[in-house]
Amino acid sequence: MTAADASALVDRLTAVVADFPQPGILFRDITPVFADAEAFSVVCAALSEPFDGSFAAVAGIEARGFALAGGIGAQTGTGVLTVRKAGKLPGEVLSESYALEYGEATIELRPGQLPRGSRVLVVDDVLATGGTAEASITLLERAGYEVVGVAVLLELDGLAGRDRLASRVPVHALASAPA
Ligand code: PRP
Ligand code: MG
Repeated sequence: MTAADASALVDRLTAVVADFPQPGILFRDITPVFADAEAFSVVCAALSEPFDGSFAAVAGIEARGFALAGGIGAQTGTGVLTVRKAGKLPGEVLSESYALEYGEATIELRPGQLPRGSRVLVVDDVLATGGTAEASITLLERAGYEVVGVAVLLELDGLAGRDRLASRVPVHALASAPA
C-alpha cells in the first residue's frame, strides 16, 4: 500500500453529510474508515509513516483522534496520550483555550505521564482552522514534550489550518477536501 492508496481510501470512505451539525455545514464523517479493518490499518500506517522512529507516543485529540492514536500506537509500539475536552480529566491538568467561530473551546492534558523531552506525534481526523491542533501542540509543549508533527486524515482547504501550524511543526494530511 502506498500513500496514494491511503489517500484514495479516505476519499472513498469519507461520508459527506449535508446540514450537520447545523444547516449550511457540510460534515465530513471519517468513521467509515475506522469501521473497515483494512482501511483502518492502512491509514494508521500512512499517518505515522513520515514520522516513524521519531516519536515515543501518539497524542490523540478527542474524539476521533483517540481511535487513530490507538491504532498508530499499537502498530508502532508507542504509547498514547489523550488530549481531552475540558472537564473530563481528574487531578492535575493543563488547560488551553482557543477561539471558535462563535465563542471558545478548551482542551486539557494530564501532565507528567511521560518524561519531559519525550517526542510526541499529534493525530486527529480533520484539520480545519487548525485551532484545535495548535492548542494541542501548546498543551504538549507546556507539559515538556517535543511535538514532532501533526498527522490528520483529512485537511479542509481554504481555512489556513496548515499555515497556522506549519511554523511550529510539520503537517501531514492523507487527503484534502473543500471546506
Ligand atoms: C472537529 C475535528 C477536529 C476539529 C478541527 O472536532 O474532529 O478535532 O474539529 O477543527 P479546527 O481545525 O478548526 O480546530 P470537534 O471539535 O467537532 O469535536 P469531536 O472530534 O469531538 O467531534
Ligand atoms: Mg475533533
